[in-house]
Amino acid sequence: MNSRDTLFVSGNDLYIGSFKAVDLAKRFGTPLYVMDKKYIEEVCDAFVGAMSAYGDGAVAFANKAFATVATAKIAAAHGLWFDVVSGGELNLVLRAGCDPKKVLFHGNNKTEREIDEGIAADIGYFVVDSINELELLDRKATAAGKPRDVLVRVNPCVSAHTYEAVVTAAPQSKFGFAVDGDALAVIKDIASRKGLNYSGIHLHIGSQIYDHSSYFDAVDIITDFMKRLADEGIVTDILDMGGGYGIYYTDKDPKFTPRRYAYTVENIGKCVAEAVEKKALKKPFLIVEPGRSIVGEAGVTLYTVGAIKDFPGIKKYVAVDGGMFENPRYALYESEYSAMVANRASEPADEIVTVAGKCCESGDIVAKDIPLQHAETGDILAVFSTGAYNYSMASNYNLNAVPPVVLVDGDKADYIVRPQTYDDLLRNNEVPSWMN
Ligand SMILES: Cc1ncc(COP(=O)(O)O)c(C=O)c1O
Repeated sequence: MNSRDTLFVSGNDLYIGSFKAVDLAKRFGTPLYVMDKKYIEEVCDAFVGAMSAYGDGAVAFANKAFATVATAKIAAAHGLWFDVVSGGELNLVLRAGCDPKKVLFHGNNKTEREIDEGIAADIGYFVVDSINELELLDRKATAAGKPRDVLVRVNPCVSAHTYEAVVTAAPQSKFGFAVDGDALAVIKDIASRKGLNYSGIHLHIGSQIYDHSSYFDAVDIITDFMKRLADEGIVTDILDMGGGYGIYYTDKDPKFTPRRYAYTVENIGKCVAEAVEKKALKKPFLIVEPGRSIVGEAGVTLYTVGAIKDFPGIKKYVAVDGGMFENPRYALYESEYSAMVANRASEPADEIVTVAGKCCESGDIVAKDIPLQHAETGDILAVFSTGAYNYSMASNYNLNAVPPVVLVDGDKADYIVRPQTYDDLLRNNEVPSWMN
């Protein structure tokens, strides 16, 4: 269990805010994503406070981690900007009433339609990631008579200390222009175009990073690069350092409080301020883009235990009514989680079990070989730190409904995403008339 104070055990029950987990499961059904508003707010405030220690800057919520209108509203109310990566995410933040000027549009292959939508919404910044994109954006902005402010995704080619699948700044990465490759030529090209204003640099070195030294290495490399640009007469007004701060999933990971997350941003801010001073550069407007660290530990998924299969001395499976359709992270990255039987919370976790999902795939695992209380069919299982990249990566595989999301705020709990019905699952199905 992570270190949230809105998550605790009393008697034999797990509590989320003022609610027994079993009562939430009874009221809203399972599987159920439960998000904690207070925790999200605490982390947002801690990040914004840390950024004010740097000076001019912004914290942008990486909406891909958890994309709902309600959470976008919470982040906006706490002063955050938004990183969006699709027309769908742009639509979501606009509907949530977020200021388009505080939107950064990322993506290594934005479609023409998405570029048009970003221009129509008059967003703050396109984060350009390919020559195709910059040429298209330049043409469209020139035709519209309004140049667009752009950041350029630069690959600093540092090795982030994390898992391979979530590294994004290896030399062969699909993202960005390599710092020692074509980045300089691309930025010079942008600076010469009528339809584009070069505003600055974006980088994102990976995810689930605990070690600050990866960020410090990236700052050193990127400020050297800013110096090369400055020597060519090109000023970098904005430096966007991306996100990627690691969170607690299991006891192998450090337990961080919101204050400790903020310390990461403070450290990055200090490192940037020192580097630009030393290299005689203009101090940039600094942006950071955390996603997972804002919402990850705010989430708990509740399941009902169904089939139990024991292969004595080999493996015990506890199957739940969810699986890879609502949490594909084990299937994608062999991610690890910790869990608890919510109605046996104070009993010893003295069995090693694999929590399996209900999809027709052997790889449909929620948590592999974890310590757990003895579970019986009908118990409620809680899996922790599921707020990031679970709901946002969910699918209807096997025509399972994506579970609803409930937001808890102290003694209040309500849907922020309603349950899908069977009709929802077939809503876009058609049978052409010529088939009849
Ligand atoms: C460009 C960019 N910024 C920010 C993030 C957020 O990363 P995290 O959720 O690990 O903080 C990502 C994640 O993939 C990203 O690609």
